[in-house]
Amino acid sequence: MQRLIVTLDGPAGSGKSTVARRLADRLGVDFLDTGAMYRGLTAKALDRGIDPLQEAFAVVELARQAPLRFDWTTDPPELYVGRVHVTPRLRDRDVSASVSDVAAIPGVRQVMVEAQRRIGEEHPRLVTEGRDQGSVVFPRADVKFYLDASAAVRAKRRWEQIKEAGRKANLETIRQNIVERDRKDSTRKDAPLICPEDARTIDTSDMTLDEVVDLLEHIVKDKAVQV
Ligand code: DC
Repeated sequence: MQRLIVTLDGPAGSGKSTVARRLADRLGVDFLDTGAMYRGLTAKALDRGIDPLQEAFAVVELARQAPLRFDWTTDPPELYVGRVHVTPRLRDRDVSASVSDVAAIPGVRQVMVEAQRRIGEEHPRLVTEGRDQGSVVFPRADVKFYLDASAAVRAKRRWEQIKEAGRKANLETIRQNIVERDRKDSTRKDAPLICPEDARTIDTSDMTLDEVVDLLEHIVKDKAVQV
């Protein structure tokens, strides 16, 4: 089977997760949500009463002891930390508030990068999304994308998602949270969010989801015949 690793990086709310999942479906390959891995570990740490800002060493220890595991038979794959099913916790407010702090811990990133490379070996036909997939984890990926959108557009998308889920949300608060998370993700010392030099940047601000997926599928298929 020919290897096909496609990376999608970009800031929160750029539409990466949905786009990556649909692109993987269209290409008939597996889909890896690396943000879910950082979120799963964050949930587990918080549920253990660990404060990620004060006890970084305990979070690293937990990452080493309680390995993350995806159930690849489900679509999208459900996530387990040790034996605990954590998918339902991933989008909870406390997890979203602490995940950037967990993702900034170098020891955590080391464990995650290793785990993601292992997944890449076991699933060599993969669309993977995150912040460092093209830059650090899979520098030799076959196709690299960097998805972006203005903070205002990204906030509006998140606000609509929350409303659709039947919850209340304040658009300005969401925008401020997104700007703050971008700042943390782009300024951390270890593997900050950057656009890899050899990635195609797609600004999705004025594009529909279908337009983005169509464009990416076209680019991958075009490139894949050459690799
Ligand atoms: O994409 P997301 O919102 O689920 O990501 C959650 C957090 O994890 C976010 O703060 C960025 C971080 N992250 C990261 O540092 N590296 C990745 N490969 C994926 C996510």
